[in-house]
Amino acid sequence: MAPIVLCLPGNVSAFRVTLALLLLLSLLLHPISAGHDYHDALRKSILFFEGQRSGKLPPDQRLKWRRDSALHDGSTAGVDLTGGYYDAGDNIKFGFPMAFTTTLLAWSVIDFGRTMGSELKNTVRAVKWGTDYLLKATAVPDVVFVQVGDPYSDHNCWERPEDMDTSRAVYKIDKNHPGSDVAGETAAALAAASIVFRSRDPAYSRLLLNRAVRVFEFADRHRGAYSASLRSAVCPFYCDVNGFQDELLWGAAWLHKASRRRVYREYIVRNEVVLRAGDTINEFGWDNKHAGINVLISKEVLMGKADYFHSFKQNADEFICSILPGLSHPQVQYSPGGLIFKPGGSNMQHVTSLSFLLLAYSNYLSHANKVVPCVQTSASPAFLKQLAKRQVDYILGDNPLMMSYMVGYGARYPQRIHHRGSSLPSVQVHPAHIGCKAGSRYFLSPNPNPNLLVGAVVGGPNSSDAFPDSRPFFQESEPTTYINAPLIILLIIMYSSSNPNGYNKYASEQLHHHDGPPTGIPVSSSTEPYFSTSHDQDSHSHSHHPYSHSQVPPHLRPRAPVPWSSGLCDCFSDPKNCCITCWCPCITFGQIAEIVDKGSTSCGASGALYTLITCVTGCPCFYSCFYRSKMRQQYALEESPCNDCLLHCFCEFCALCQEYRHLQSRGFDMAIGWHGNIEERNREVAMTPVPPVVEQGMSRDK
Ligand SMILES: *[C@@H]1O[C@H](CO)[C@@H](O)[C@H](O)[C@H]1NC(C)=O
Repeated sequence: MAPIVLCLPGNVSAFRVTLALLLLLSLLLHPISAGHDYHDALRKSILFFEGQRSGKLPPDQRLKWRRDSALHDGSTAGVDLTGGYYDAGDNIKFGFPMAFTTTLLAWSVIDFGRTMGSELKNTVRAVKWGTDYLLKATAVPDVVFVQVGDPYSDHNCWERPEDMDTSRAVYKIDKNHPGSDVAGETAAALAAASIVFRSRDPAYSRLLLNRAVRVFEFADRHRGAYSASLRSAVCPFYCDVNGFQDELLWGAAWLHKASRRRVYREYIVRNEVVLRAGDTINEFGWDNKHAGINVLISKEVLMGKADYFHSFKQNADEFICSILPGLSHPQVQYSPGGLIFKPGGSNMQHVTSLSFLLLAYSNYLSHANKVVPCVQTSASPAFLKQLAKRQVDYILGDNPLMMSYMVGYGARYPQRIHHRGSSLPSVQVHPAHIGCKAGSRYFLSPNPNPNLLVGAVVGGPNSSDAFPDSRPFFQESEPTTYINAPLIILLIIMYSSSNPNGYNKYASEQLHHHDGPPTGIPVSSSTEPYFSTSHDQDSHSHSHHPYSHSQVPPHLRPRAPVPWSSGLCDCFSDPKNCCITCWCPCITFGQIAEIVDKGSTSCGASGALYTLITCVTGCPCFYSCFYRSKMRQQYALEESPCNDCLLHCFCEFCALCQEYRHLQSRGFDMAIGWHGNIEERNREVAMTPVPPVVEQGMSRDK
């Protein structure tokens, strides 16, 4: 600054101009979007989990204002249930979201541990804090302790966890009170964590895997939702609204990844339809695993290792297409400031979990050199990454309020989060007990919280980007473990792709770890972990890649539709089908409909409805053309030579024959229906050699 003063003494307006130019220059050199310190945000978001710890804190606890709490949890049931995490701003240990959080933390280490740098060990510790508790909760065979603490008495108090004197009732599921949801998720968490500890602590890893196997068997054998028998304790807090089917598939998917046992692969293929893998696929959270299952399993499809899971990739593609912005009927809304918004409270959980899937899928796609074919467009991995980055940057402060929604990050962040421990004075400052109702004045106080829960990300702004920063507005101001868990992966990737040297620096330290299962994608095996172009034709220059970051504007590319396997008028290439279709189109139509509906309607039922519509209206084409559209969407086929309904009305037989032949070309035996084809694939699966399994993992726990 000195030279300016020397050159321009007294000339105030020239001084201002120069200052403005300098400011502009510094902005150009440090664009705002590059201003986020993702590594700092990553470090903080992991630190948050230490603030949520329950039980006896270890000597290396970094968040010092917290102390030991809930040291007698489980004693009323004669078991040890100390430890684990409080789910949010209260002092209850809810097993369902805790298991989900642990699964995601483990997933982040499995896929991205090598790029976490110095934060790897803290994340592994965060996983272990969860699994140590889950092992206690599953120590008794065919029982899972799913919750500690009576949520009503807890929610009526504003007390530090260290002071807690409300009921620590223990809730469990067993053979007569099943809970496949929470048990399936617990099995998933244990299985995922067993991969994390495979090389770090083999004995612990085996213990986790054995336990996961046992808990999954229990979940599958005694099916049901835990909110049926525990309704008054778990609802409306963590009620299983979505059903337990997704957790069974999710648990099997993680067990398959962890054990490589054929039985889990067969379980997934066999139960895909029964357990509704394709349902409500634009959701991912503690209650709904559908989109996560599809993305997780697609990784293997994209690696060309598991073609029998192809439908999961189709589901994952559909999920990605459903959350892209700018669609005429978007299933996911965006706030004016650009934040993903789903109504229902604690919106940020959707932001981080959906962005996490966008990014994980983008990573798998770019390794396979693929794009997502949507109906009118296709989305490149670079585009998906950019979408996710936009969400992360919003959370860190690029939003209309210029507010970071992570406590302790940036210049402006929430001061009055809905969190008991953070808002009450710490034990060190105020050693005396603060009772249930005595805490109310801290809850209602307009003052900022005295203890920083560093790294906590709150529920976030409402759909118009407004944020009250007030404790009573818990939907906006409460942090939760399952908001932060997916965010960790987002921050790792943002960090490592904004700073390739960061990866180099830590890579050598981590090379001896082998986290991924044998078929895993070697994520981050290059110096530029995210946009790996090792599969590209031209790996020297990103700008030559058709979907590179530099060429694709933040906009969807027009899709390149796939042509049909045969022409419309090639009916006579299959005379038998041609004759059957001419004689009784209902048969061909029924066969097509069964496959397109993935077995949820039968050939007979669709054929009969088709016949009925023919008899009543004489125009079955309006029914059958709907299936052509659905099929085109599934296979990204071109709409040719004209509109689906026009085509069906013009030549019903030609259209049906063409669809039939196309499904045949995709490997379906049209004579045996959807379930026949699945069984056929199961048999093929059973005959293909499987990679060696982890032998120790197979023995049952005592
Ligand atoms: C969001 O919050 C602001 C301020 O509290 C309020 O004025 C606005 O109406 C809210 N928007 C919605 C959609 O609820």
